Amino acid sequence: MTSILVLYYSRYGAVKQMAQHIARGIESVPQVEARIRTVPSVSPKTEAVEPAIPESGATYVTLDDLKECDGLALGSPTRFGNMAAPMKYFLDTASSLWLSGELADKPAAVFSSSSSLHGGQETTLLSMMLPLMHLGYIILGIPYTAPDLNTTTTGGTPYGATHVAGVNGKNPVSEEEQRLCFTMGKRLAEITLKLKNS
Ligand SMILES: Cc1cc2nc3c(=O)[nH]c(=O)nc-3n(C[C@H](O)[C@H](O)[C@H](O)COP(=O)(O)O)c2cc1C
Repeated sequence: MTSILVLYYSRYGAVKQMAQHIARGIESVPQVEARIRTVPSVSPKTEAVEPAIPESGATYVTLDDLKECDGLALGSPTRFGNMAAPMKYFLDTASSLWLSGELADKPAAVFSSSSSLHGGQETTLLSMMLPLMHLGYIILGIPYTAPDLNTTTTGGTPYGATHVAGVNGKNPVSEEEQRLCFTMGKRLAEITLKLKNS
């Protein structure tokens, strides 16, 4: 079985919903499974430690998940035009994998949700690509062969799937956004499978 890690952080649930649509796209490809994981929140009291098993939702990721999976979909809310600190904090623990080069040549894609349409989704996606490139991932976007990229009035970018949550953060993931999440997951799975079998 080929496994793709869907790793996200979500404080209010929007990025979590996107992760589920991306996982559906991944699992639409035969012989590919999605492994959904999240990261704990961080606090200024860095000595505070979350329980190893969260009260609800996805299991917390470990470095072994990165090693064991053949590809990666990485999702974070947009925070001041950048990825959220809990995701960056986890990535900053991956230097052993950077040193060993174990993640090199694995495909990866990124996704994000923001409250406003022009609130920095694209810069967030680009910021998420940077550490992945250092780790050796091959970055995939969404090509304009996905028709929704030309017509969406909500989220969706060639740099990765996005969602516009609105001022109150309650906008549902629109149909275009859902299709682009699915398309990104499916493409990531297909390319991961091809690379693995080549
Ligand atoms: C500290 C903080 C910074 C944020 N910065 C931005 C921003 O730069 N642009 C934006 O449009 N939304 C911003 N937001 C809103 C979130 O990106 C938005 O609510 C997102 O949908 C949250 O995803 P989640 O429901 O998965 O937690 C920010 C929210 C917080 C808490």
